[in-house]
Amino acid sequence: MSRRAEFEADHPEVHVLSADQAGRVDLVMGAVGWLGDEEQVTTCVSLGGESSTVMRVELQELRGGWRTAVLKQSLPWLRRDESVAMPADRWRGEHTFYREVARVPEAAALVPRLMAANEARCLLLLEDFRGASNLASLYRGGSLGEGTAEALGGFLRALRRGTRGEQDAEFANGGMKTLSHRLLFEAPFGSRGQGGNGFGPDGPAPDEGALDDIEPGLGAAASALRSDGAFRDAVAKLGRRFLGAGDCLVHGAFHPANWLLLPSGDVRVVDPQYSSPGDPEFDLGTALAHLLLARQPVEVVATFLSAATGAEEAGREGPANTEEVEAGVDRPLVARYAGAEIVRRLLGGAQLPLEAEGGFRLGLLETARTAVLSGHLEVLET
Ligand SMILES: Nc1ncnc2c1ncn2[C@@H]1O[C@H](COP(=O)(O)OP(=O)(O)OP(=O)(O)O)[C@@H](O)[C@H]1O
Ligand SMILES: [Mg+2]
Repeated sequence: MSRRAEFEADHPEVHVLSADQAGRVDLVMGAVGWLGDEEQVTTCVSLGGESSTVMRVELQELRGGWRTAVLKQSLPWLRRDESVAMPADRWRGEHTFYREVARVPEAAALVPRLMAANEARCLLLLEDFRGASNLASLYRGGSLGEGTAEALGGFLRALRRGTRGEQDAEFANGGMKTLSHRLLFEAPFGSRGQGGNGFGPDGPAPDEGALDDIEPGLGAAASALRSDGAFRDAVAKLGRRFLGAGDCLVHGAFHPANWLLLPSGDVRVVDPQYSSPGDPEFDLGTALAHLLLARQPVEVVATFLSAATGAEEAGREGPANTEEVEAGVDRPLVARYAGAEIVRRLLGGAQLPLEAEGGFRLGLLETARTAVLSGHLEVLET
């Protein structure tokens, strides 16, 4: 029996939804009480989530009123490939993030309003950012722009300052945190055999020949890194730290595919399914990694970092003292997390559609290696 058939047999109350069945979506939304009097779902349009079913629903009233919302259903498998299992508690992780972020108005302003939630059916109903498109387009060129970089940095700063030391004791999202750990700190290093099976949402890590096809020399560089004991130890140590950290509320996948650009030019943040209590440096490092992978102008990177770390730290000289680290951001830790994410994206099974000149990946891989090993990354030093 398929994973999905087994699940449906065990959970007859959960209706698996898809955008091509608007009638079924209408029945379910009616059953959970999310439709107004004389309101009906008229159309559903898939928004193309890889791991969850994400759709825009259009709701119409008999009297002519009209609205839209985003409906997200997260089930214990990958939507793109239902044979791949996903942690069953990820719905709760995403829901908890949206609930918790409401404590921090400055950050809450950048995420969709949570309109309704139904745990039994793994459903979230979210504010629809109509006309928005995600910023995965950045990998193919173009600048994020300094205003957007500042808004994204400000979001992380607000999240860090507003949630430090105050985590909901019940909140762990352990399944997704463990998955994230495997994707970042294990899978790219071929611990399951080089070019072995994919894991979770990531495909198999490319073997050396495939890496050389992507960029000449990348295969040998990958092989050297994978057999570098000191590097592997540093990655393992960082991974243990990642698993144990829990000081702040963390988004968990803070990168361009989860940043939405509105028609007004404002930016929004979605998809906190990997959210958990953790190091705030993790979100900062992830974003920084993607800004470097997307070859963003130095001013954009600098603006992001200055907004994220906070004005009180901008322009600070010399290494941070302990007090500053406690109150603000541990920059070497940001560098290490950034390095690990860069290595994952260059060598692992979650390749990005980068349009970069020859030598770019090799150069960035070396930068990432140094960052993981020594906590040093030039853009963080200025
Ligand atoms: N509230 C929203 N308003 C408008 N568009 C949205 C909204 N939420 C999500 N989207 C669109 O749907 C896409 C998929 O959503 P999301 O990232 O939540 O899905 P996912 O399946 O969890 O993620 P992934 O594809 O990263 O695995 C987003 O990249 C975005 O383009
Ligand atoms: Mg996403």
